[in-house]
Amino acid sequence: MIKMKILPISAIGILILILTFSCATKKGTEMPCTQKMLDYCIAKTVVTMNRLDKTDSFPRNINHGQTQWNKVNIHDWTSGFWPGVLWYAYEASGDSAILTKAKDFTNPLSGVLAVPVENHDLGFMLFCSFGNGFRITKNPAYKILLLQAADSLATLFNPKVGTILSWPAMRKKMNWPHNTIIDNVINLELLFWASKNGGTQNLYNIAVKHAETCMHTLIRPDYTTYHVAVFDTIDGHFIKGVTHQGFADNSLWARGQAWGIYGYAMCFRETGKPEFLETAQKLADVFINRLPKDGIPYWDFDDPVIPDAPKDASAAAVAASGMLELSGFLKDNASKAKYKNAAISLLAKLSSAEYLSNDKNHSFLLHSTGHKPNGKEIDASIIYADYYYLEALLRLKKIEN
Ligand code: GLY
Repeated sequence: MIKMKILPISAIGILILILTFSCATKKGTEMPCTQKMLDYCIAKTVVTMNRLDKTDSFPRNINHGQTQWNKVNIHDWTSGFWPGVLWYAYEASGDSAILTKAKDFTNPLSGVLAVPVENHDLGFMLFCSFGNGFRITKNPAYKILLLQAADSLATLFNPKVGTILSWPAMRKKMNWPHNTIIDNVINLELLFWASKNGGTQNLYNIAVKHAETCMHTLIRPDYTTYHVAVFDTIDGHFIKGVTHQGFADNSLWARGQAWGIYGYAMCFRETGKPEFLETAQKLADVFINRLPKDGIPYWDFDDPVIPDAPKDASAAAVAASGMLELSGFLKDNASKAKYKNAAISLLAKLSSAEYLSNDKNHSFLLHSTGHKPNGKEIDASIIYADYYYLEALLRLKKIEN
């Protein structure tokens, strides 16, 4: 194990440690103490918040062994997660200082729409920030911006293929004439939201068509997922499934599978279409069945160097949040319990001393992997792991209440 640099333990650090260990799960049980984990996230959010002086610079990652956030500008695909963390931390705490910061870090992201849309990530960037902001404050200016964002995202839809183009830059670079990634299913939530909030029915239709097309292309017959589907632009046919961030074209990239679980549960919430619910369930079954003994996925389930491969806490957090939503839609008690318990097991492990960053750095969680093939963000703290961990805790709290 590589040694982490230890920060001086401040009063808040001691509080965090007390909360963490008083909340430790009993051996043999899987239940984290939700409120205490929320308190941990709130305390750590305040620490980061008070250290940031510029509101147009957003925490993205803390590399293994480092203690400080590396930051990005508004145009990075992860820029919306920090404001999203602030909105969730405000929701969990009611702390008006956090609310002020949530607004301060959300507003600069309007600049994302000042340049032409270049990829599907608008949903991640603007729905996590302005979307949560609108849900909580009902600020009409947020609504206007979200409706513009949805229209912008919809311009990437290719009706011949039936999906949104995820990465325009990859058409030339990789010779992927029309490409759609599994992550893109998350961004359909912006379109569904817009169609219910003053946008056109067409936005809903695009989201449904995209989800249906991906069900038959990005999702393989055994309910594992490709990262990228490549389509022909002349007749729209599916050419091949490939990877970008996974181990191999045919391997199972853990976060991709987690995006699928989360995305199809959301698509069922928004449409009531049973095929989306069944898809979310089957994707979750694969994820659960392939988890290693310690309960947190390796970055790719098929990396041949397992058990020496890095883990991906972010995939666990996304899957946990998605499975909590999924379990709420199921009618029979056994299935309901299955996905809820699977989510709680993931959260319990993430809430253990092994995965919590505690006083090691300013994030919530350690051990995420962003882009292994590029050698980037390996065994790091990453902002979206924190975002979905906090979201999952809030979802669990609502279920408990
Ligand atoms: N959406 C990019 C990723 O999951 O890394």
